[in-house]
Amino acid sequence: MSPTKSLSLPTPIERPRRLRASGALRDLIAETHVHPHDLVMPYFVVPGRSETQPIAALPGVSRYSVDTLLPQLERALKLGVRAVMVFGVVGQPEKSPGGEHAHDPRGPVPVALREARRHFGNDLVLMSDVCLCAYTDHGHCGLLRETPRGLVVDNDSSLSALARMALTHAEAGADIVSPSDMMDGRVAAIRQSLDAEGHSGVGILAYAVKYASAFYGPFREAAGSAPQPPPTPPPSAPPLIGGAGGGSSPSDRKTYQMDPRNAREALREAALDEREGADMLMVKPALPYLDILARLRGHTTLPLVAYFVSGEYAMLKAAARAGALDEGSAVAESLSAIKRAGADLILSYHALEALESRWL
Ligand code: PBG
Repeated sequence: MSPTKSLSLPTPIERPRRLRASGALRDLIAETHVHPHDLVMPYFVVPGRSETQPIAALPGVSRYSVDTLLPQLERALKLGVRAVMVFGVVGQPEKSPGGEHAHDPRGPVPVALREARRHFGNDLVLMSDVCLCAYTDHGHCGLLRETPRGLVVDNDSSLSALARMALTHAEAGADIVSPSDMMDGRVAAIRQSLDAEGHSGVGILAYAVKYASAFYGPFREAAGSAPQPPPTPPPSAPPLIGGAGGGSSPSDRKTYQMDPRNAREALREAALDEREGADMLMVKPALPYLDILARLRGHTTLPLVAYFVSGEYAMLKAAARAGALDEGSAVAESLSAIKRAGADLILSYHALEALESRWL
C-alpha cells in the first residue's frame, strides 16, 4: 500500500506551505526587511595617528585613530549605512576621578566628529555616545561621592559632567548625542544645556532601557571601561553601595543600570526619557530583551533603537568559529528578529560585514 493511501485522514484545508515554496515567493510575502539604512555601525576612536588596534574580545572589530577611521566611514557609506555611533577610548593618563577628558574638545570623539563632518557633510548621521565610564579612573558611568552610607555613584553631580560632554559633541558637529549612563534626569539636563547654547537642532537618542547585562563584557575590554574599585581607597573605605537584590559589587553597574528581571520598569524609564525630551529610545541588549522592545513599541510613537551588543556579537563569532552554526544565517535571523520585535534601527558590530557578505 502506498504511504499516502495507508489511512483515511482529513485533507488540510489551510496550507501555509504554499507561500513558502520558493525563495521568490518567500521574499514576496516577507513581513520584515533589514535595510542598510536600518543599521548603525559603532566605532571606537583612540587618540593618535595611524592606529588600527584589533580588539581580541571582538574579532573583526578594531579601535581607530581619526585618520584611519575616516576610510572606515567611507566604507560604511558605500555599503548604504547612513549612521554611525562613535565611542571614545583614552589611555590611563587621561582618566581621572571626575572624567574631565570627556568634555575636552581635543579628545578623540570631538576630533572625529569634526573631521567626519568635514569629509562627509550631511551624508552620514553622526551619533556620539555620552557616558563617563571610559574617562573616569574608576570606570563608573557617573561620579563617585563619599556618603555616610558608603561610596555611591552620585546622580546629580554626574549630570553636569554629562551635559558638558554632550555639549562638546554638539559643538563638534554631532547630529545626535546618545547618553548611555543611566543617571536619572540626564536627558532633561542634556536637552536644557544644548538648547541654552544654541543646539536645539541636535537630537537625543536616550539609552532609556539599558539593563545591567553580562553581555557588555567585550565592550569594556574595547573601551577600557570596566568598573573598578577606586584606585586609592582609604584604609577604612566603606564598600561602594550596591544594595540588595542579586548582590552588587564595586565592579558592576547594578545601582544605575536596570535589573534584567524587570519589564514594567522599562516602560517607566522610557516614558521618563520621552517626557524629558528624548527623540529616540534605545533598548539594550537586544536578543534577550525582545519582549521589552515589543512592549515598548505599543507605548511610544518615538523611533526605537536596539543595541545588538558586544557580547551578542562575540557569542555568534565564537559559535561560528567553533563550527556550531553558520554566521551569516545566524546574523540575518537575529537582525530580522530584532526588527520584527519593533526596532526601527539596530546598532550592530556586524553591520558592515553583513552587508559586504550579502547576509541580509
Ligand atoms: C557605556 C556603554 C557600554 C556599552 C555602550 N555604552 C558599556 C557599559 O554600560 O558597561 C555597551 C555596548 C556593548 O556591549 O556593545 N556606558
